[in-house]
Amino acid sequence: MNTPILAPSILAGDHARLADGVATIKESGLSWVHIDIMDGHFVPNLTFGPVIVAALRKSSDLFFDVHLMLDNPQDYIEAFAKAGANLISIHVEPDYDILKTLEAIHELGCKNGVVFNPGTPVRDVEPFIDKVDLVLAMTVQPGFGGQSFKHEVLQKTRELDEMRRDRSLSFRIEVDGGVDSRTLPLCMEAGVDTFVAGTAFFKPEQREALIDLVS
Ligand code: DX5
Ligand code: ZN
Repeated sequence: MNTPILAPSILAGDHARLADGVATIKESGLSWVHIDIMDGHFVPNLTFGPVIVAALRKSSDLFFDVHLMLDNPQDYIEAFAKAGANLISIHVEPDYDILKTLEAIHELGCKNGVVFNPGTPVRDVEPFIDKVDLVLAMTVQPGFGGQSFKHEVLQKTRELDEMRRDRSLSFRIEVDGGVDSRTLPLCMEAGVDTFVAGTAFFKPEQREALIDLVS
């Protein structure tokens, strides 16, 4: 079983002071920073590029968990690896060579992850689970923070956890979207060990409770 990790998403932080958001994560004693990269095509929102990741890398030694919500992630993995990503996760929904891209992420020296949306079946990620360090099950439709948690996704994390055990694999199972002090324990019971929280983490009154749940 992997040790539980809370990965705050700086999408929910102050975008005029992203480095402060990363510093808050460090001061909270956490090690992972979840960075949401959005292209305005695969998802309706537009966020940061490699330049921002490189700037944040200069001021932080934390683990950058970079979530690519792009139509063509294969064209950007080198730029994000060079910018200082530690893990790069890519979605299965767009049409590109997923396996080749996952292998390329490893060749670039980063850990890799595969991501699927709430409406995407587990069978779409199954071919990759023995090739990745992490599987991210989206618990909201990607694009924006602050949405409501989709409880039905936990059936999929249970299925992934069973596959992981049956095949003696050790990939992390991550959830992302609507994770707070109420939903995190439900995820933990459903085989999840890596928890992205944006809105809830950047609410000081929720932060401590979240951190206690993974400590
Ligand atoms: C949504 C992003 C999430 C988001 C976190 O597309 O992938 O990481 O920032 O969501 P909340 O704010 O609900 O924790
Ligand atoms: Zn994300």
